[in-house]
Amino acid sequence: MEQIAYVNGSFVPLSEAKVSILDRGFLFADGIYEVAAVLDGKLIDNASHLARLERSVGEIELALPETTARIEEIQKELVKRNNLANGMVYLEVTRGADTGRDFAFPKNVKPTLIMFTSTKDIINAPSAKTGINVITVPDLRWARRDIKSVALLAQVLAKQAAAVAGAGEAWMIEDGKVTEGGSSSCFILTQDDVIVTRQNGSEILPGCTRKAVVALAEERQLRVEERAFSIEEALAAKEVFVTSASLFVQAVVSIDGKKVADGKPGPMTNRLREIYVEFAKATAV
Ligand code: PDD
Repeated sequence: MEQIAYVNGSFVPLSEAKVSILDRGFLFADGIYEVAAVLDGKLIDNASHLARLERSVGEIELALPETTARIEEIQKELVKRNNLANGMVYLEVTRGADTGRDFAFPKNVKPTLIMFTSTKDIINAPSAKTGINVITVPDLRWARRDIKSVALLAQVLAKQAAAVAGAGEAWMIEDGKVTEGGSSSCFILTQDDVIVTRQNGSEILPGCTRKAVVALAEERQLRVEERAFSIEEALAAKEVFVTSASLFVQAVVSIDGKKVADGKPGPMTNRLREIYVEFAKATAV
């Protein structure tokens, strides 16, 4: 059966899900997106994703066309209609389609809201056992990376470079420090057992999974430090991992072809992954 998508108030077969060529998401990347994981047909940490959505649209003065409560209803309805057990719901809101291509905000134009789902067994993904290799690239992005904008060309190029190199993620570097992954937050576990991840700010996206993992680690009295770190520090670390809605907690076993520790996912990464999965299942809606 063909997948069902949501476009501006209607549930339609994916092949019929269309927006105008004048849509500002298409012309200017004038839009915001969110990706929430689905486990056993339920949304994971969705309140956090919807809170970030509200913040992102607020930062670009874009009014959501629906309340976040209604958006969650639509997400759930889409999961149901697609009979989705495990995967993701993608949602995007743009400033809509005007009659031409004026850069300034249009007046009386309704924002576009679209959603679709994809299937992925996040829990049993093979990379969860093996870990992933990462490469490093310069961070070419704009100065407001805290906004989850659909302007992702720098990440597209970074992740294409990773794909060509046979790596699972690209870590972006600025001023000698890791900002974040192309679509993930970066962590290291130092030799003295401190979990380090870059502090939130305009240089990175405030990851929902990052936020949950930091809180879960602190609840368990694990030491967490929020500060920038270098690749040299990551290569000298006990463990390295990334977090995102579509990976949860995922070990990194090499950086630019150099092994991290023994080149296998470490015990802290595995433990945090288990803790996160437990949290995800317990709070799914
Ligand atoms: N990406 N940093 C960047 C640049 C991201 O694009 C993402 C998420 C994250 C992790 O955030 P979260 O834990 O809220 O998923 C960090 C999504 C999954 C994507 O673009 O597919």
